[in-house]
Amino acid sequence: MKKQNLVVVGGGSTYTIGMIMSLIAEKDQFPLKTITFYDTDGERQEQIAKATDVILREKYPELEKFSYTTDKEEALSNADFVFVQIRTGGLQMREKDEQIPLRYDAVGQETCGPGGMAYGLRSIGDMIDLVEDIRHYAPDAWILNYTNPAAIVAEALKREFPNDKKLLNICDMPAAIMVSYAGILGKDVFELVPEYFGLNHFGWFTGIYDKDGNDHTQTIKRAITEDGFIPEDAEIANDPSWIKTFKQVERMVNDFPDYLPNTYLQYYLYPTEMVQKEDPDNTRARQVINGRQERVHALADQIVKDGTTENVELEVDIHGRYMIRVAASMAYNNGDIFIVMVENNGTIANLPDDAMVEVPAMMTNRGPKPFAVGHIPTFYKGLIEGQLAYEKLVVDAYFENSYEKALQALTLNRTVVDAPVARQILDDLIDANKEYWPDLHKRSKEAV
Ligand code: G6P
Ligand code: MN
Repeated sequence: MKKQNLVVVGGGSTYTIGMIMSLIAEKDQFPLKTITFYDTDGERQEQIAKATDVILREKYPELEKFSYTTDKEEALSNADFVFVQIRTGGLQMREKDEQIPLRYDAVGQETCGPGGMAYGLRSIGDMIDLVEDIRHYAPDAWILNYTNPAAIVAEALKREFPNDKKLLNICDMPAAIMVSYAGILGKDVFELVPEYFGLNHFGWFTGIYDKDGNDHTQTIKRAITEDGFIPEDAEIANDPSWIKTFKQVERMVNDFPDYLPNTYLQYYLYPTEMVQKEDPDNTRARQVINGRQERVHALADQIVKDGTTENVELEVDIHGRYMIRVAASMAYNNGDIFIVMVENNGTIANLPDDAMVEVPAMMTNRGPKPFAVGHIPTFYKGLIEGQLAYEKLVVDAYFENSYEKALQALTLNRTVVDAPVARQILDDLIDANKEYWPDLHKRSKEAV
């Protein structure tokens, strides 16, 4: 097996140590020659990198080289794979994305509704610059992108780089949900084969099989409606917010029993309640700042101080393992099946060809080969079309610098609906995102 040169963009991310542990756990599946971290925030990255250095020396002695840098040429030259997880504006801006819509009783969430639009308009520019840089220094590298809001980022990157065949957008949520299905069935998550359709953070499992072809769908549905549903992946299992989110799956299956929903559908199906449950002073961003971020930084500090990992507990999570398995399947042409984002082109028969959909695909060295889904029923098609139009309008707003398109996007979103509310939220978001968003222009009176 050829050993890979891997670059992690966003080396200072709170997910990076988990990714490193996953790379160690998966070293037989995806053997590495070098790991390089790249981040624009050198200080934040250094702390994580110093801990990573200790971890790798203990647990990955075969690795030829680990390094970290803020210099893009140094980071990206020689890359075979680039894993991208960046957050323009950081958790501080995530908190604003969540708080501002709540002022108007609209859902305040990282990737859903107005918060998703705000984050999207911040992410697109940085992602375009980054992909340009990667292509300059590593024209043949595979780019695997986790950057949110993934649906909007995927649509924007498809428009900007229509011929880039080695750029793949993925999300770990379907896989994290499958970890819980695997728990119900007493199996390993990678033994399961999903059937699924939708958009990122907006999709449904229509079936869960194992590699022998046995159908476990009804068993899972029954277990969820009878015993409930809990997160089981290490990263989220003990998190009260994720426990609440997984509990909502039971309710969604009871309300709409056709399929097994992605957890993010709670924001679109129960928006009023999701708003009522929120405390604007303690939205998810605040919880992550005080929770995961604190925890990861304390962990990194301790590893560096001790010079060993002996005194800490390090866990492997699906976030890392999923991306690594997808990468391995492309590197070695394994043909494994994973849920990823692709341009529709007939995969879901009654959705537009140019939609970026999330579906299972066979992962090969020529990229993802999606399986035909066929026609989807009216309820799901209707929901998806509304969301898809919103996503496309956000990307239009970015490329056309259009205030009207952004207003249309928010008005169309199920979590907003009222045009005057959409306008108020948009104006507040523009104000909060001055440093990050493109200028959005209103059409002049003459042009109307
Ligand atoms: C899942 C989603 C990601 C999202 C993350 C947020 O992993 O797939 O897209 O960023 O959850 O989790 P957090 O714990 O930060 O709220
Ligand atoms: Mn996601």
